[in-house]
Amino acid sequence: MIPHSRPVFDDGSLRAVQQVIARGHTARGPVSETLETRVSQLTGKTYGAAVDSGTSALMLALFALQVDAPVQRVGIPAYACRALLHAVRACGVEPVLMDCAEDLRLHVARAQALAPSLDAIILVHPFGLIEPMVAEAWPCPVIEDIAQAAGGSLQNCPLGGFGDISIASFYATKPWGGAYGGMLLSNRRDIFQRVCEMRYADTAGIALPYAGNHQLSDVHAALAMDRLVRADEERQARLQLVEQYDEWLVPLDSEPVRRETTGNQYRYIVRVEDAEKVIANFHSHGIGAARPVETSLDALTGDVLSGAASAWRHCVSIPVLADMTAGERTKMEKGFKSCL
Ligand SMILES: Cc1ncc(COP(=O)(O)O)c(C=O)c1O
Repeated sequence: MIPHSRPVFDDGSLRAVQQVIARGHTARGPVSETLETRVSQLTGKTYGAAVDSGTSALMLALFALQVDAPVQRVGIPAYACRALLHAVRACGVEPVLMDCAEDLRLHVARAQALAPSLDAIILVHPFGLIEPMVAEAWPCPVIEDIAQAAGGSLQNCPLGGFGDISIASFYATKPWGGAYGGMLLSNRRDIFQRVCEMRYADTAGIALPYAGNHQLSDVHAALAMDRLVRADEERQARLQLVEQYDEWLVPLDSEPVRRETTGNQYRYIVRVEDAEKVIANFHSHGIGAARPVETSLDALTGDVLSGAASAWRHCVSIPVLADMTAGERTKMEKGFKSCL
């Protein structure tokens, strides 16, 4: 089966982890610090705090904002990873779901109508696509989530450079993913300092709204650093692959969801009549197609959102692997012709 995701490792990855273990210091240390500097540079942010996951980064971002002012209602996209909903709920905050448009970005008018009632908003660049609304002015703090689109850019600025706080994930399947990990990025020193305090329970003050052990280990940081070395090359390889997919799709019945060359081509998403049937068909051809999200969040909260419901019924995510072999490409071409 061609997997839906496959991180690329090599001997350098092995050596990077071995070096950490050989030094005998596997908890947070110099590699995590180097990763913080590197990711801050890549996103154009002044400060980066490495943490144990993207979910923790979201949660700590919200707790850090709560020190400034009460945060009671947070807007999150309805057609997004469940981690967002869990992070918001973990902070005791009400999630306000925002519907998506046909192209899987936020529905602009609906998001703008909700904005005045929100205390913060999480804007996600979904599936390697770009959420242009990060460049707009919002009446509340913006948390920009680049977990799936890290390495992309908008208006010549790197993604992650727009939010008041930005978060990244180094989970294995993500474009910058090693194994586990995340990062919170900001130009605000006070936010950065709060997060650094909250991520280490042994020294965190009890006046903070939360503290826990959320530091990133140097083993995980070494894997993420290793992935960063090849991230741009992998993005280029995925870009070439999706151009090939576009060509295969021209004579067929399905439509690709719009994409931009400045996105990072993390997923290739098509709209079909019956997503479930098409995914099963791909599986029978040895291709690990999947739904872009396991469940749309409105199905969990009981909200009724037409855009998200339609995306769930019709969208299929097809693997875009940076290291796809010639044999796998042939299999994909046949899969496209038979399943779409
Ligand atoms: C858009 C988005 N944000 C945040 C997360 C959470 O990241 P992590 O898996 O590192 O906790 C995910 C993970 O799936 C995600 O897709």
